[in-house]
Amino acid sequence: MKLKDIQQQFHLELDDIYGKEEVDSFFFLLIESFYNLTRIKLAMDPETLVNDSSKLKEALELLKEEQPIQYILGETEFYGLPFKVNPYTLIPRPETEELVEWIIKHQPKLNHETLNILDIGTGSGCIAISLAKNIPNAKVYALDVSPEALKMARQNAELNNVSIEFIEANILNPDTWSDAFKSMSFSVIVSNPPYVREQEKQLMKPNVLNNEPHLALFVKDENPLLFYKAIAQYASSNLEKQGALFFEINEFLGREMIHLLTSNHFVNIQLKQDIFKKDRMIKGEKN
Ligand SMILES: C[S@@+](CC[C@H](N)C(=O)[O-])C[C@H]1O[C@@H](n2cnc3c(N)ncnc32)[C@H](O)[C@@H]1O
Repeated sequence: MKLKDIQQQFHLELDDIYGKEEVDSFFFLLIESFYNLTRIKLAMDPETLVNDSSKLKEALELLKEEQPIQYILGETEFYGLPFKVNPYTLIPRPETEELVEWIIKHQPKLNHETLNILDIGTGSGCIAISLAKNIPNAKVYALDVSPEALKMARQNAELNNVSIEFIEANILNPDTWSDAFKSMSFSVIVSNPPYVREQEKQLMKPNVLNNEPHLALFVKDENPLLFYKAIAQYASSNLEKQGALFFEINEFLGREMIHLLTSNHFVNIQLKQDIFKKDRMIKGEKN
């Protein structure tokens, strides 16, 4: 079958949902992943044929159901690195790359031979792995409650050739923590925990709401800082002096986050906006 005919079919069936440009970009990502063909090659040889078009047709059906392209491809890119993703892992977001960038820039302030770094709620492992890749003296630990997410994160560590210590535990329940975890000491603790309030569901796109793991996204309206409170408390006892706690946050809860870190005696608190000018991350240091 000619690829250009399949591309035509993609446009017919998907342009109303995504718009022409996005459909083209999906199509080119798919042919690159399935047939190792680039858009330039297709432009130069518009009559290109493929023997088996079943994968593309399957992808078309999934796109019609508004499944995220990253899950269809089974991979994405974060901080210039490849990551496998599946429906147990949140798809890494560009704003989280900004958080990683901030930590990498911050870390020279801590003058250690080895920097112990802990990522809480690691998901695909995107934060932990990009820090391990870019901070040469880092020893990185990554925790999640989901064994399925940890399995994917392990594969991603291997894919990116970094060594990470994975921990399966519920950060909200100290009974699930090992004695070693209870007594560990870190220079940096980072987390992008679940922070979307149930009341914010209506602001979300259906492809996120219907496909990405709710365990990774949502918190109850009555206690939206549940994870931040637990992590700030853990960090209060397990960060070394001058160690730093970094969070990605709900854009509507910046003030509440400053209050939370202040009341947990963190200093040099800094709230930072993302490129869209939304309050998106915060840092505090242990006194
Ligand atoms: C917003 S996602 C962040 C994933 C990844 N770090 C990222 O930035 O793309 C939150 C993660 O927290 C994990 N999580 C949810 N509840 C948890 C809990 N009680 N203890 C530990 N991790 C939890 C989820 O499985 C999910 O991977």
